[in-house]
Amino acid sequence: MIFPEYRARRLRQNENFRALIRETSIAPAHLVYPLFVMPGKGVREEVSSMPGVFRISVDQLAKEAKECMGLGLNAVILFGLPDKKDSKGSGAHAKDGIIQRAIKELKNTAPALTVCTDVCLCEYTSHGHCGILLDEVVDNDSTLEVLARIALSHAQAGADMVAPSDMMDGRVAEIRGILDENNFHMLPIMSYAVKYASAFYGPFRDAAECAPQHGDRKAYQMDPANVREALREATLDVEEGADILMVKPAMAYLDVISRLRDEFDLPIAAYHVSGEYAMIKAAAANGWIDGEKVMHESLLSIRRAGADIIITYFAKEMAKLLNK
Ligand code: PBG
Repeated sequence: MIFPEYRARRLRQNENFRALIRETSIAPAHLVYPLFVMPGKGVREEVSSMPGVFRISVDQLAKEAKECMGLGLNAVILFGLPDKKDSKGSGAHAKDGIIQRAIKELKNTAPALTVCTDVCLCEYTSHGHCGILLDEVVDNDSTLEVLARIALSHAQAGADMVAPSDMMDGRVAEIRGILDENNFHMLPIMSYAVKYASAFYGPFRDAAECAPQHGDRKAYQMDPANVREALREATLDVEEGADILMVKPAMAYLDVISRLRDEFDLPIAAYHVSGEYAMIKAAAANGWIDGEKVMHESLLSIRRAGADIIITYFAKEMAKLLNK
């Protein structure tokens, strides 16, 4: 069928037709809101490179949780800044560590909220790398044990889902193993299966104070040039027991999301990362783009590419827009 029999504009002529045939939707229930938790009391500190995003102390979490749930956001993911860092990142699995306290606070004050946790070492190590160093290199196998301890400590504190973001080989199996041995067989793992060594993480590293003190993360995070390798990474994580596969960042990797959607039947999450947020905020602040419309279009593109879940700093703003 070609013009003039087919006229694409027929079904575009008013909003009712457009809504009737719209292929992609976003709901607050699809979004996960990241929270940065830091030591202290009464702390609410805006991240300079991420306007509208705050680092907050544990006592502020109840209020934050209430706001999220009021907007229809059911899930958050926690990142922590420890009291002090050391070479082995021991603050990450401390019984009274920042994340462990944050989980307990949320579970006590907002039990219906789904609390996901980022399982990694970079926020807790003095060198800023995502694992244990051996001669300046992140040692895969000795890091696995520590990651498993971190995941278990989050589970014991009451977390609803763990999300390993370190990119060590074999970590999903290691974490699944320790969780199952300790009766947490119902606790899902959302694996950062396909995480690229990306320059889009810049503002996050300010927020979480976790930039590597030497070198970069290219020896463990993926090369942005590769997509077949993404399929291998995802296959391994499926075999090791991941429940959800994540792609990160999102917008520069929509093709990767789409490939994973085609090749796997597990739910797919996409992390719309700090740099993606910061770029939109900066351009909007200059009056160069309509920030709200660009936010909506960006998140829609990530859903259209095939993501079920979007982790985004825009979660509250997007939920407000959707609730209008
Ligand atoms: C920890 C981690 C990072 C992000 C999420 N978890 C930083 C990194 O890998 O350097 C980035 C999130 C963002 O940029 O919003 N490994």
